[in-house]
Amino acid sequence: MNGIFITFEGPDGAGKTTQIQLLTQALREEGRECVATREPGGTFISDQIRAILLNPEHKEMASHTEVLLYAASRAQHVHEVIIPALAEGKIVLCDRYIDASIAYQAYGLGADLQHVELINRYASDGLQPHRTYMLDIPVEAGMERLHRRSGVSGKPAGLDRIEQRERDYHSRVRAGFQRIAEQAPDRVLLVRADRSAEEVAEEIMSDCKRLLHYT
Ligand SMILES: Nc1ncnc2c1ncn2[C@@H]1O[C@H](COP(=O)(O)OP(=O)(O)O)[C@@H](O)[C@H]1O
Ligand SMILES: [Mg+2]
Repeated sequence: MNGIFITFEGPDGAGKTTQIQLLTQALREEGRECVATREPGGTFISDQIRAILLNPEHKEMASHTEVLLYAASRAQHVHEVIIPALAEGKIVLCDRYIDASIAYQAYGLGADLQHVELINRYASDGLQPHRTYMLDIPVEAGMERLHRRSGVSGKPAGLDRIEQRERDYHSRVRAGFQRIAEQAPDRVLLVRADRSAEEVAEEIMSDCKRLLHYT
């Protein structure tokens, strides 16, 4: 595999979709072949697993089930979309990956961290990103952007099962993301996302240029 694998992490509302679009556009203008994807990657199987995960009626779902379903959805996306694109030498930009399970299910929900890591290593055949842009934003600011985007202005009915969880949960998730960044400084760049989209994009682009020259 000679492609480059880049992931974007951070809470909803942090600006992952926005930044992936900006970076994809910038890289394409430089003549690079890019694939922008997001879990569940538009694969038929992953989409169906995702629908089970996000259904607000599934209140009784055990954290174990949640960990395994995310990993199962990810496995299909990795094998059907990401690995083939990397094998063709493309740059793959992926919206969320294993760090999301570590932050949301281990740090957020309290699922056993080592199990979450092990299950995801199996699901991904150990495929790790070359670089991860971790967009960090205070919980309230992220939520506010999210509400503005979905037009629900604070009405929980418009949010999915995970988004409906309480504020403390989202604070633990944020701290989890920060912890991951601290523990993997060679892979993860923690980016302050409470700035203009252009400023954030500039920081990501300059790091990405360095990455592409050195790999
Ligand atoms: N740096 C930014 N400053 C202000 N608003 C932003 C910024 N980046 C994204 N947004 C807006 O915030 C909302 C969430 O951004 P989005 O890229 O969809 O985040 P995510 O994919 O992480 O959930 C969108 O309405 C988007 O236009
Ligand atoms: Mg998004």
